[in-house]
Amino acid sequence: MEKKIIKKNLKEIKLSGNYRIRKIKDSGNSHLFFYKNKEYLSFASNDYLSLANDKRIINAAKIALDKHGYSTSSSALISGYTSSHHKLEEEISEFLGQEKTLLFSTGYQANLGVIKSLVSRGDNIIADQLNHASLIDGSILSRANFKRYNHNDYKDLEKIILKCKAKNNLIISDSLFSMDGDIANIKKLSIKARKHKSSLLIDEAHSLGVFGPEGRGLVYGSSLSKEKNIFVTGTFGKSIGTFGAFFSGDQNYVEYVMQKSRSYIYSTSLPVNAVEATRKSLKIINKESWRREKLFSLINYYKKNIHKSGFISLESDSQIQALLIGSSKDAMHISEELLKKSIYIPAIRPPTVKEGSSRLRVSLTVDHEEDDIDYLINILHTISINLVQS
Ligand SMILES: Cc1ncc(COP(=O)(O)O)c(C=O)c1O
Repeated sequence: MEKKIIKKNLKEIKLSGNYRIRKIKDSGNSHLFFYKNKEYLSFASNDYLSLANDKRIINAAKIALDKHGYSTSSSALISGYTSSHHKLEEEISEFLGQEKTLLFSTGYQANLGVIKSLVSRGDNIIADQLNHASLIDGSILSRANFKRYNHNDYKDLEKIILKCKAKNNLIISDSLFSMDGDIANIKKLSIKARKHKSSLLIDEAHSLGVFGPEGRGLVYGSSLSKEKNIFVTGTFGKSIGTFGAFFSGDQNYVEYVMQKSRSYIYSTSLPVNAVEATRKSLKIINKESWRREKLFSLINYYKKNIHKSGFISLESDSQIQALLIGSSKDAMHISEELLKKSIYIPAIRPPTVKEGSSRLRVSLTVDHEEDDIDYLINILHTISINLVQS
């Protein structure tokens, strides 16, 4: 593309209110964000269980770092696969009740590689309209026929699948939707998949660690982990508090993905310190049910009180709560007003969400307290009054 056109496009993005900038964070995960020498109360992190700064996890990573150095210096299929990787794969399989697991370096890579391995030209993908970008990109990359059903509307899914002529159908859904915070009905999805002899891929990125017994996710929580046609992807970069990702399911399918997935084969494997950190985090998640209990108590508190803010909160029973604003410019304005009061909540704008549905994505974590939610609601209330008056 010519530089002239790039400049024109950049100007247009700026005018639309959708221009992205990055805030240089000094430190902070979970409920705190340190920026330009100031501390902010953050509702912008996916560290839902507040584990990213847990000393036990950090120590596990340090020990591995001393022993293995930083990089594995190779892809898993060449020389980058250690006993730590192997053990984590087995532990994830056990945790999720799945037969076999393959580690990926990121959730984005996992979704790209898995989808492209499971379907190809002539097959069908039937996907929720609000699926994460990595699921959408994987679907496009696969060259299968890509059809999208209305969000969480399984009648629409059925209508679409009935028109599909090819034999190989893959239904794809997030289990917990990242920008709305609502949850797919995995049982209903599994019934549709079985009825139409389709496979079902569920991305548990945001539900892992939080939903299901001991945080084993919604597929496990729906007693579906033994179904041969259901597969799971997930990332460790959210409630696990570490880094990396995985694909789990029937042994044959996982081995097939290992043979086929270019994003697995042609990418450096996860650093051992990330793997050992994840192993430690899983042990903590398994044992410390108080984290989930506290998070759900905060979610209930938020839901009971958010109406006092004067903003519209989307229906959600999860740690992801969205305040619907509308235009990108308004969402940016409110985010900036919050920043002045030491609260950080980024504005989520197109193309991440639909035009006209820009929002503030509030994510709750274990280290928040009810006082933090009260403070947020009070400030939002003042902002809403000022907006009405201006
Ligand atoms: C639903 C979903 N899937 C996949 C990913 C990608 O995971 P990762 O950050 O490990 O690439 C994300 C992260 O934003 C996500 O929200």
